[in-house]
Amino acid sequence: MKFFVDTADVTEIRELNDIGLIDGVTTNPSLILKSGGDIMEVTKEICSIVDGPVSAEVVATDYDGMMKEAAVLARIAGNICIKLPLTMDGLKACKALTSQGHKTNVTLCFSANQALLAAKAGATFISPFVGRLDDIGLDGMEVIGEIRAIYDNYGFETEILAASIRTVNHVKMAAMIGADVATVPPATLKALVKHPLTDKGLEAFLADWAKTGQKIG
Ligand code: G3P
Repeated sequence: MKFFVDTADVTEIRELNDIGLIDGVTTNPSLILKSGGDIMEVTKEICSIVDGPVSAEVVATDYDGMMKEAAVLARIAGNICIKLPLTMDGLKACKALTSQGHKTNVTLCFSANQALLAAKAGATFISPFVGRLDDIGLDGMEVIGEIRAIYDNYGFETEILAASIRTVNHVKMAAMIGADVATVPPATLKALVKHPLTDKGLEAFLADWAKTGQKIG
């Protein structure tokens, strides 16, 4: 399973990339706002840090506007992945951009049928929003499972990118169901390593080691 980090915070991205934990980055207009930076500058910096796909989202809602913005975003770096909303215009732009050889990420997906359309439009990634489905009392993971089954039925190569991940349990469930990628906020990604028994065990080992009076090397 690949991990993307869901942020436009370059300090966080650099730290996680240095650990070797991330395979790509996803951004969106809200995350650009949160970063406080200019979309072109921030995205360029992210692309210089991470080798994998960096999703940058168009904000036009019509096909022509999306294609124009996609051309601008694609010029930022070779690893840009154009993020498009799950609308008819977004799907049309997805098909065109995929045919031109661009990576595409169709976002704001909330149903298996929407994901089916994105796969037919040739999307590189489909982003079902797990947390936002949970927020309204639905089951985000159920949708991930449905998409997995449909894509496997027909051999679609579109990768399932579990998005709107809010908890470590979301990450585990997405991995168990077979999502290809999870895009995870930095704090949740860092929380995956934590276990109280690891801390307790390490403390005990270090205390015993100190009693030996030995040194390694
Ligand atoms: O990748 C999409 C993600 O940023 C949305 O997450 O928590 O705003 O629903 P959230």
